[in-house]
Amino acid sequence: MVSEQVKKGKFITLEGMDGAGKSTHIPIIVELLEARGVEVVSTREPGGTLLGEQLRALLLHETMHPETETLLMFAARREHIANVIEPALARGAYVLSDRFTDATYAYQCGAKGVLPHKIKQLETWVQGDLRPDATLLFDVPVEISLQRLASAREPDKFERENAQFFEKLRQAYLLRAAENSHIFHIIDANQSIDKVKVLVKEVIATL
Ligand code: TMP
Repeated sequence: MVSEQVKKGKFITLEGMDGAGKSTHIPIIVELLEARGVEVVSTREPGGTLLGEQLRALLLHETMHPETETLLMFAARREHIANVIEPALARGAYVLSDRFTDATYAYQCGAKGVLPHKIKQLETWVQGDLRPDATLLFDVPVEISLQRLASAREPDKFERENAQFFEKLRQAYLLRAAENSHIFHIIDANQSIDKVKVLVKEVIATL
């Protein structure tokens, strides 16, 4: 079982709707943390391991029941924790994950209706007491997110969802942030990349 006792490093996660622009800031965050002389492991979900990346390909492109999707997310997460996150934290590294379990609460529960207690059960089973130390939530209005996606690469299954889905998603993320305000930092990502970069730097400086 994953335990706080093995943890020495810091676990930072990035969240937000598709199109919120979080991935743009990953190299900057890595650079800021590495400047402290610590090891930084930059990873993502679903994915982060060989098997996890194979599950990601299924998750992003195959239609499936929302509960199947939830179970596969947690299967990929179990691999990720065992092979990447836990060993890195145990040796004192900073782990920066592009999404984690808050995405399951937002997408599968908030937007697709999987019951929260089912996700909580899986969270406890798969993670033990492992939770992010800090989560940066990149928040933009739904119209902005949809506009950005329309001009981006070929959309995956999630990126093809409608505005109603995205609105549920945004509200679910904001609710998670309100309920876990000691972990979440909401970044107003509805502004220029340079301005968002300043906000990101301010948050990282506090971690
Ligand atoms: P990405 O595009 O940010 O790499 O994320 C991949 C997609 O997977 C994104 O649309 C959100 C979705 N996702 C979930 O639905 N549930 C989850 O638990 C995770 C980690 C991602």
